[in-house]
Amino acid sequence: MTWHIATQELSKVKVTANGENDFVTVKGNSDKFQCIGVGTDAAVFRFVHAPHYAFKVFRIDKLAKIEIEKEVYLKLGHSGYFPVCYGSGLNFLVISFEEGITLYDCLLKGIHIPKQAIQDVENARNYAFNRGLNPRDIHLKNILLHEGRAKLLDVSEYMKRGNDNRWKYLKEGYKEHYHLIDGKALPHWIIETVRKWYNKAKSDSFNYQDFVQELAIFFKWEDRLKSFK
Ligand SMILES: Nc1ncnc2c1ncn2[C@@H]1O[C@H](COP(=O)(O)OP(=O)(O)O)[C@@H](O)[C@H]1O
Ligand SMILES: [Mg+2]
Repeated sequence: MTWHIATQELSKVKVTANGENDFVTVKGNSDKFQCIGVGTDAAVFRFVHAPHYAFKVFRIDKLAKIEIEKEVYLKLGHSGYFPVCYGSGLNFLVISFEEGITLYDCLLKGIHIPKQAIQDVENARNYAFNRGLNPRDIHLKNILLHEGRAKLLDVSEYMKRGNDNRWKYLKEGYKEHYHLIDGKALPHWIIETVRKWYNKAKSDSFNYQDFVQELAIFFKWEDRLKSFK
């Protein structure tokens, strides 16, 4: 495929930052590129003429992450747990397009998340550790579910040190409380509130258990109210 055409066409879209932890905004449009997802650093597009690729276009102040993410992909190699990286342009990374739906959208739509998906993430993390990387930033929008199996997206933080505990909390939440919300479409505000609280209070003072307990009560009441209808 001609990278030149892609680069030219991609210059029609602008990826702009909001807050440091807020999702980027996409301005402008191209009839050849379809936005398939946004994150806090970048927006991801699919090119109609080459649908097997995903173009991750970074906001201007995060361009340095392109080289880092590329290096991580190089270390990961081909595994089936992560997309594959094919190259990069001035403000974008080209990776394999992966079918599926993020766990975030699964919660929004009430799509069942099987135990196997949790195991797949565990295996993917172990694979990354064995390659000398430090898998981080594993949250609902960075896990893709397809035909009951999970893949990890967004490896840009795998060279950073330390544990952000995101996966630990997600896994705990799944084990202990997922049965309460399984198959239920969660309102957007609930998921966003959890996300914002998490970002605000990455310290120990964030009481995850209390919050989940409140959620559980909310859903129990919702069930009771439904039975009165
Ligand atoms: N390879 C891919 N295939 C399909 N969708 C993708 C792919 N990479 C990213 N996405 C979508 O784009 C979103 C943002 O991508 P991500 O790499 O997480 O950006 P950021 O680094 O800004 O968080 C993801 O949550 C997902 O919905
Ligand atoms: Mg992401």
